[in-house]
Amino acid sequence: MEEKTSSCVEIRRLGSSETFKGIGVVQKLTQRSDKNGRPFWEITLSDSTGSFDGKIWGDAAWWDLSEGGKTAVDPSSENLPRTLRGKSLGVQGKMVEFRGQPQVNVTALYLLDQEKYPPSLYVQAAPVPLEDLEKSFWEFVLESGRFRPFLEQVFSGEFWERFRHSPAAVTHHHAYAHGLLEHTVSVTRLALALGKAAGATPHAAVDTEVVVAGALLHDLGKVESYSLSPVPEMTLPGAVLDHVGPGFARFLRFAETWGLDERSTLAIGHILLSHHGQKEYGAAVLPATPEAMIVSSADELDFRLFCWGDATGSLPEGEEISDFHFSAQRRFWKWQE
Ligand SMILES: [Fe+2]
Ligand SMILES: [Fe+2]
Repeated sequence: MEEKTSSCVEIRRLGSSETFKGIGVVQKLTQRSDKNGRPFWEITLSDSTGSFDGKIWGDAAWWDLSEGGKTAVDPSSENLPRTLRGKSLGVQGKMVEFRGQPQVNVTALYLLDQEKYPPSLYVQAAPVPLEDLEKSFWEFVLESGRFRPFLEQVFSGEFWERFRHSPAAVTHHHAYAHGLLEHTVSVTRLALALGKAAGATPHAAVDTEVVVAGALLHDLGKVESYSLSPVPEMTLPGAVLDHVGPGFARFLRFAETWGLDERSTLAIGHILLSHHGQKEYGAAVLPATPEAMIVSSADELDFRLFCWGDATGSLPEGEEISDFHFSAQRRFWKWQE
């Protein structure tokens, strides 16, 4: 694996029949069977640039280089997908076309020495530097007016450490270190702008301090739903409780501990429980206040804008329509004059 390697995003953009070598961290590896019962694998490999999904057919070569030598590995070993998750892996392969769609075929895999190729080197982080995200976050805390002392207590100590490092998801959006902080800052920025604009219409009285506090706190439950090891993973509470309910429960504990008054607790708690906008998307109640409508709209907008960037960012030069984006359930258009 000493020759030049391509990044995961470069691999995703290869043309048909082009070959590649790459190194990344195994985000997902799943064994499946074809219609004749023969095993094949689906892999998601990521590095600091992004990730690609690939197929590994039964004739692929699996090698273990981790001990310095080169020994063959039996890929059907039951533990392999679990053992390799979160580990760095070398790959070789070719871009092919399958039913008119580009498909990355991985033809050789190399288990690497994890000390020589530490997974942390290949893990994606938020594209914005952490210190810039933190600076924006604390500027928004200042905008929360009467809630500032409460928010300074919530986002402190061990909770702040976990919050600022947490991913915002495993796959859908901001699925990398500091992703939750990046998403929270974006949602708050959008919500504050929307709140100021909506407050100027004749139909809505908007308390922008509630908007800012609600936006900063809206995904607080994600701290317990996801972990980084070093790729984002769903925790057991995340899998069985998701983040809306646990976020609300934790918020109530914070509110009680710091003596937040009852009406503010209700107004912000309502934002936490309704921020997914619709019950089929996990909202416990529908947004009933201008502040809750604003935060849930900002949350959805940030998610969609992220997906737009994700989908159109990997478009080859000159193309303007993305592949179908599964999370957002649409193709995106990179409009150019
Ligand atoms: Fe959420
Ligand atoms: Fe969110």
